[in-house]
Amino acid sequence: MRRSSYPDNEVTSINWQAFKLILPYLFEFKNRIAFAMLCLVFTKIASVYLPFILKDIVDSLDAKVPENMQALVAPFGLVMAYGLVRLSIVVFAEIRDTLFGRVTERAIRRIGLKVFRHLHQLDLDFHLNRQTGGLSRDIDRGTTGISFLMRFMVFNIVPTLLEIVMVVTILYVNYGIWFAFITLGSILTYIAYSVYATELRTRYVREANVADSSSNTRAIDSLLNYETVKYFTNEDYESQAYDKQLATWEQAKIKNRLSLFALNGGQAFIIAMAMTAMLALAALNVSEGKMTLGDFVLINAFMMQLFMPLNFLGFVYREIKGSLANIENLFGLLDKAPKVEDVDGASELAITQADISFENVHFAYHKKRPIIKGISFKVNGGKKVAVVGTSGSGKSTLVKLLFRFYDVDSGSISIDNQNTSQVTQHSLRQHIGIVPQDTVLFNDTLFANVNYGNPAASKEKVMQAIELAHLTKFVNSLPDGIETVVGERGLKLSGGEKQRVAIARTILKDPQILVFDEATSSLDSHSEQAILTAINEVAKNRTSLVIAHRLSTITDSDNIIVMSEGEIIEQGNHQQLLALQGKYSKMWQLQQSVK
Ligand SMILES: Nc1ncnc2c1ncn2[C@@H]1O[C@H](COP(=O)(O)OP(=O)(O)O)[C@@H](O)[C@H]1O
Ligand SMILES: [Mg+2]
Repeated sequence: MRRSSYPDNEVTSINWQAFKLILPYLFEFKNRIAFAMLCLVFTKIASVYLPFILKDIVDSLDAKVPENMQALVAPFGLVMAYGLVRLSIVVFAEIRDTLFGRVTERAIRRIGLKVFRHLHQLDLDFHLNRQTGGLSRDIDRGTTGISFLMRFMVFNIVPTLLEIVMVVTILYVNYGIWFAFITLGSILTYIAYSVYATELRTRYVREANVADSSSNTRAIDSLLNYETVKYFTNEDYESQAYDKQLATWEQAKIKNRLSLFALNGGQAFIIAMAMTAMLALAALNVSEGKMTLGDFVLINAFMMQLFMPLNFLGFVYREIKGSLANIENLFGLLDKAPKVEDVDGASELAITQADISFENVHFAYHKKRPIIKGISFKVNGGKKVAVVGTSGSGKSTLVKLLFRFYDVDSGSISIDNQNTSQVTQHSLRQHIGIVPQDTVLFNDTLFANVNYGNPAASKEKVMQAIELAHLTKFVNSLPDGIETVVGERGLKLSGGEKQRVAIARTILKDPQILVFDEATSSLDSHSEQAILTAINEVAKNRTSLVIAHRLSTITDSDNIIVMSEGEIIEQGNHQQLLALQGKYSKMWQLQQSVK
């Protein structure tokens, strides 16, 4: 569906809050802003001065019909001055734009980075519940909103207000209260009317947009179903349905146009009234000899100059309102507090043995559905512990808890007797390496993806990790070798290749604790063997937690934990568990017979 440039939950009054939010980001370039403002004031003074030159030209031409070149010098000089002032207005406006553009861009950069960092800080739950596409659209709209707001505030609204103030003052001082009064009154009426009419129109504009996108959707859906339409000979039915949508669109467009007519018509009426009143008053004064012809021209020029920028007022008002809403939205992201946070004065995790211990851990993603129900186990430093159990029993959840993607509801998880909830998340995650169930890669080269495990590592180290992960043969078979781009999310690699990239990455990270979450479950037995060899080499002398589907891959574990529905039902080494004749031995027999 096509979307308008601002969110649907549009506020009805302008929300000035967004200004306060951006303000601190603008102050980084105080001097630039000062200079830009100086340029702004200068251009406005110059443009207000322009009609005065015009007046002098007219008056000097009017005073004496020139007979010789000598008499032409004065008006000619004035005309030159007129041209010069005009030019300088444009030049200074350009300087102002250039100066201020930088301020806006820096603010966007700072805010963009802040939001990006914050998004990475938010918990996994937030990201699982949000569509990344929607998120990036929010950021996009927010930053566009800032840029739009700045552009129109600095380049349109503020200068116009300044000009209005200056012109009204000049009119009051030079020509008396009536000229000032008519000008100010008509401008205020004009602004009020524009805002009001634009507000009324919004509904019709939106209706037209909605009708436009739904007729589009309808047409596309119909064409996509081309075959189905033919099978049922429903061409006429489809055309009628489409035409119905088009009729709605037509109606909406008519209302939209009529409302635009009302807006423009009303604005033109107000301008015409104001111009007529001003010129009539000026003409009266000229005929009474209180004003010169030049004054008449000057007043006319002032009015034209004032109303011209106001022409866009309806559009600017609507867009600024949309921009403010978008900016609010963007800053709203910053208000979201992460559910998992470091405690005050959290210490760094210090690894000695790399012992892991779960103590009576309870956890639920949603209150109503407990997933982990009182799990306790220990992994001694350097040992290999396997977790097995049916799909959905909570194995991957244990890993997420170990990484502290979520906080446990009760109980505790400790590493070397330090509660993981009391150490910094950064230090915790630094010491754990994982080969996840589904490895997702960056759309970059193989080398870069492995390098990601430790961006500071030398090229030799990266190549060594690739070797250890048994990837060398595969890399050598590729035409582009290590520089091969893996495609979005790594889709150009097979499951086993991706797993090995994940292993190489983890080798490079070189953590004391390793987690393998069904790293081999989606592979054929040949690839599985290759990966198992890799895993065993890496896991030497490190604490490892291996979640496995195929029991044959973990028979050598020091301890095997059998999980079912969030609880540990059996525990022991392979032989002990077989002797137990329980769930494990049943699973074992089942898997043996399948082979
Ligand atoms: N983010 C989540 N929100 C809600 N429920 C979840 C979430 N992640 C997993 N679950 C549920 O928790 C249960 C355990 O999942 P998981 O730990 O992935 O199982 P396993 O790895 O043992 O197959 C599953 O029933 C799953 O539906
Ligand atoms: Mg799992």
